[in-house]
Amino acid sequence: MSASVTVRVPAKVNVQLAVGAARPDGFHDLANVFLAVGLYDEVTVTPADGLSVTCSGPGAAQVPLDVSNLAARAAAALAGRYGIAPDVRIHIAKDIPVAGGMAGGSADAAGALLACDALWSTGASREELLEICAELGSDVPFSLVGGAALGVGRGEQLTPVEVGGTFHWVFAVADGGLSTPAVYREFDRLTEGTHVPEPVVSARLLDALRTGDTGALAGVLSNDLQAPALSLRPSLAHTLAAGTVAGARAALVSGSGPTTAFLTDDEASARAIADALTASGTCRTARIASSPAPGATIQRP
Ligand code: C5P
Repeated sequence: MSASVTVRVPAKVNVQLAVGAARPDGFHDLANVFLAVGLYDEVTVTPADGLSVTCSGPGAAQVPLDVSNLAARAAAALAGRYGIAPDVRIHIAKDIPVAGGMAGGSADAAGALLACDALWSTGASREELLEICAELGSDVPFSLVGGAALGVGRGEQLTPVEVGGTFHWVFAVADGGLSTPAVYREFDRLTEGTHVPEPVVSARLLDALRTGDTGALAGVLSNDLQAPALSLRPSLAHTLAAGTVAGARAALVSGSGPTTAFLTDDEASARAIADALTASGTCRTARIASSPAPGATIQRP
């Protein structure tokens, strides 16, 4: 048995995030089209005395290192199911913005789960791993599978979506994070007393992904959490405007924010728009990435 296992796991952007009314359990039914993007965290698990988490990289100081860390909970959940002592040190090498609406925490959970599964040779099926992912959080199953998928229910019930090309993005990273529950609460506040329609996936969006057509995708990107994220963080409007002025095909808040996402024609324009966004002073930094990206993958030395 090798001494440690490393898994690389991608960030995501939601190219459609249609949100329904709050359910009795407090969650919201979604039509959530996830697209994995090529920004990655690396999760390494090493046998140790007891369960611990360490973290390095940008934003590491904001990552909790106790049992509330989703990666630690993933290891404990898998160990519990197989009667194994969760004796691992989990190290997270962060590159995905923390609390940024790009599923960084979910990525770490999926990464830790896959890494521990390999370390302990549990023999768990893909379905069992996906079940544990869904218990850990609505976005965790997608972090495991990557690519592109439609998520319904809380977002955890996935159907793969075909992508016929490469899409190029810029992500403007904001100072500080936004709490996902707070953004959903703001959605509830803003829609109070109105009829919130059932969330339905856009056929035009699925067509744009299937044909790999950037212009068509730009016309149909949508995020129902954008208005509540902007309501909580009005300054994001300046970032969206700066990217649009710099030539992005489309601009939107990524998931629950505060990261903003800009769809661009190609890698060269992504670089130019990232430079313009950084120079605009409306974000902390800007990153470029393309999609789709593979899901959680064990790294071979
Ligand atoms: O599932 P997860 O733990 O990632 O969700 C975090 C929070 O986001 C939930 O506690 C809930 O407030 C909100 N949420 C929601 N509806 C969803 C997914 C998340 O209201 N479909």
